[in-house]
Amino acid sequence: MKPRYWLIAFALCAAVGAGVWKTARAIAAKGSVTQSGDCAQWEQDNPVQPLPTPPIGVGHRFDELPDPPTPQRVRLGRWLFYDKRLSADSSLSCASCHRPENAFSELTPHSTGIHGQQGFRKAPSFVNAAWQIYPNFFWDGRASSLEQQALGPIDNPIEMGNTHAGMVRTLGGIEPYARYFNESFGSPEITADRAARAIADYERTRVSGNSPWDRWQMSRDESALSAKAKKGHELFFFGKAACNQCHLGPNFTDSAFHNLGVGFDPLTGKFKDDGRYAITKNEADRGSFKTPTLRDIAKHPPYLHDGSAKTLREVIDLYNRGGDKNPHLDPKMKPLNLTPEDVEDLVAFLESLNGEGYQDTAPATFPR
Ligand code: HEC
Ligand code: HEC
Repeated sequence: MKPRYWLIAFALCAAVGAGVWKTARAIAAKGSVTQSGDCAQWEQDNPVQPLPTPPIGVGHRFDELPDPPTPQRVRLGRWLFYDKRLSADSSLSCASCHRPENAFSELTPHSTGIHGQQGFRKAPSFVNAAWQIYPNFFWDGRASSLEQQALGPIDNPIEMGNTHAGMVRTLGGIEPYARYFNESFGSPEITADRAARAIADYERTRVSGNSPWDRWQMSRDESALSAKAKKGHELFFFGKAACNQCHLGPNFTDSAFHNLGVGFDPLTGKFKDDGRYAITKNEADRGSFKTPTLRDIAKHPPYLHDGSAKTLREVIDLYNRGGDKNPHLDPKMKPLNLTPEDVEDLVAFLESLNGEGYQDTAPATFPR
């Protein structure tokens, strides 16, 4: 861009920040200023883009959703998701724990929050969460929408350590953000609910499909999948492993809760983490956790809500022994009599679920 235009564009941004957006827009409409796309570096780094087309295997469309994401909200949400200024000391963003290169999960058993504080659960992946069967979010299902979920970590003292009011104040102090709230919601007010809405819409666009398994399954491309993975598929869906009792549908989750015995201590008779019980206070739910998606599972060891299984083989060993015995073990958990070869075939199948469509990196610049 020529320096002169850059100056005009910069002036437009400043005018917007000063609250004379309408005047600026009137000028823009007369064509005497460059398009708003040239307005600032951060807009070029994160332009408004059409919604992605979900790749084969996702099995859903955005227009099926009651209130589908809009390109403007997704852009705003992308900034917010990666913006560390949402945390109390500007040290963490959502992406610090939900890393795009790990399918929005991470490679540690527990998350590290603000001031190095250790959480006690693994950060789950949320690919394809837009179409989850039941609206249960978090391992214990305590949030009933992605919006409600997004508000959780912001004021969690061991995650981002902020308050919702604190976040709104911070965003209000970053002048250009009002413009993008206006673009997304029709008025410039910044509220926690609107921020959550934008973040949730960005999350909804993180889709995963077109994996080797999808190409074999949906496009009948025989060369896409190894013989071992095909045997693993057979075991998973129809054979003695019967994994799809719980990992079902295009996103491999019933989004319901089950007790596999993870974290049960036979000496004390207690769970390290009561999971779903803490929400329902129903004894039968003690030690139950939400079935996670298996899409891109090979991208984020270790596994399970406490990160206690280092490898996929270790997870399958747990199933093979029928789960870990405890008073609330899910009745679907039975010893499976899998041979070592069966285990390898299941691992090959799980590894064939690495897909595409969600990959991203943090925008290079942010509104400031
Ligand atoms: C300090 C690390 C950390 C940060 C920062 C963080 N998360 Fe999480 N996230 C987690 C952990 C750990 C869980 C699981 C917690 C639980 O189930 O109790 C989780 C759960 C989730 C889930 C639930 C997925 C599902 O299928 O149930 C979503 C979605 C999510 N986070 C989105 C976000 C968003 C959006 C932000 C930013 C506003 C964020 N997270 C910030 C660690 C983090
Ligand atoms: C009874 C329901 C049920 C069945 C059957 C089941 N799963 Fe799971 N799966 C779950 C639940 C619930 C979790 C999370 C448990 C926890 O963390 O406490 C899970 C976790 C996993 C994980 C770890 C995911 C992650 O993100 O950490 C893998 C891998 C997995 N299952 C694969 C399988 C395979 C392979 C089979 C068949 C051998 C299978 N599952 C059968 C319910 C089930």
